[in-house]
Amino acid sequence: MNDRFLVTGGARLQGAVKVSGAKNSVLKLMAAALLAEGTTTLSNCPEILDVPLMQHVLEGLGCSVELDGEIVRITTPAELKPNADFDAVRQFRASVCVLGPLTARCGRAVVALPGGDAIGSRPLDMHQSGLEKLGATTSISHGAVVAEADELRGAHISLDFPSVGATENILTAAVMAKGTTVLDNAAREPEIADLCEMLNSMGAKVEGAGTSTITIEGVEKLHPTEHQVIGDRIVAGTWAYAAAMTGGDVTVGGIAPRHLHLALEKLKVAGADVETYANGFRVRIDRRPDAVDYQTLPFPGFPTDLQPMAIGIASVANGMSVITENVFESRFRFVDEMLRLGANASVDGHHVVLHGMKQLSSTEVWSSDIRAGAGLVLAGLVADGVTTVHDVHHIDRGYPNFVEHLRSLGAEIQRV
Ligand code: UD1
Repeated sequence: MNDRFLVTGGARLQGAVKVSGAKNSVLKLMAAALLAEGTTTLSNCPEILDVPLMQHVLEGLGCSVELDGEIVRITTPAELKPNADFDAVRQFRASVCVLGPLTARCGRAVVALPGGDAIGSRPLDMHQSGLEKLGATTSISHGAVVAEADELRGAHISLDFPSVGATENILTAAVMAKGTTVLDNAAREPEIADLCEMLNSMGAKVEGAGTSTITIEGVEKLHPTEHQVIGDRIVAGTWAYAAAMTGGDVTVGGIAPRHLHLALEKLKVAGADVETYANGFRVRIDRRPDAVDYQTLPFPGFPTDLQPMAIGIASVANGMSVITENVFESRFRFVDEMLRLGANASVDGHHVVLHGMKQLSSTEVWSSDIRAGAGLVLAGLVADGVTTVHDVHHIDRGYPNFVEHLRSLGAEIQRV
């Protein structure tokens, strides 16, 4: 828990890395395995801490889960336990994605609330109202969200905001509801499309994945499947921004570049040369990047999970950048750590204005979440001297072999 990274600035990142499966997909796909009795096999799974945490959640519900490198096998029993207890879910918020599958399979789900985290309060109102539209009753009781339904029925649901988590829970509840569900203003993230593809391979009838309107025709029963997890666009984007910040030349494989379209376009505007391939891309730049403005939005907008990397590049870019956060209220806590590294940044509501400087100055900084932690390491790569990044257990939750990958690209970083 007390591991930290020592990052020595100055190296130009060069070489090739391959990303593994997406954290934000694999956890939802593991939860979707609850929908069918039998053994579901997922491949291209990332070796990150959240996967064994999800294993623990599923085992608590009665599944047996085998982790075998990049393969995860989940065997779901005929009768599931509907209670995901506090011990299992408190450590990571993504565990709330068992709510939809449990309501569908058991007619009852009790999922302890993990509470807010470092990036905002993260309520569940849209998850609840979506399930209610499908005929469930829901409540928050004794620190858990409870959903109950004798029968789920298809409905027309319009989300106030294209929430990723709410879209997933509504989808996984609606696949076995009676009749047709139309979900408007659905999230369009590639991880949603990945989930829909897996659900269809289990026998579900889902159309419109990756668009704002998803139509789900309920079926009586689903069967287990084999499915390959899509590549992690946020990890891929992290390497792309690391390359651009350090004047590097990095090729990233294992990722569909269309999943990162806007983030790569922004790097082009900053002066980088970006080539895309069927399953990867190359980012090259041999000068200081130009300042570019960013605003985070649901997909296909600029991902909020890459906002720390946008702040990182803006802090060393030539000129002034404005970065606007539209998805999570408290995500600018990261800026306080960037100020400690000497960044010229000022926060005004949900905007941060940065005047880029040639180099940051090394010091001790603290990770507050997965992406902020990775962003601080990137900042350390463009600081003079040695930057100490504390609380790196956050980074371990989302980035497999983080140190090894960076070292293979020529970065000076060690875990102590
Ligand atoms: C997921 C990702 C996270 C990413 C985020 C946005 C996982 C495990 N996490 O989080 O990495 O940053 O999508 O791309 O996949 N909201 C409500 N009420 C609700 C649900 C959400 O107000 O019922 C708000 C949230 O507080 C937030 C916004 O909607 O401000 C977006 O949240 P959402 O898209 O649901 O993100 P997550 O699924 O939690």
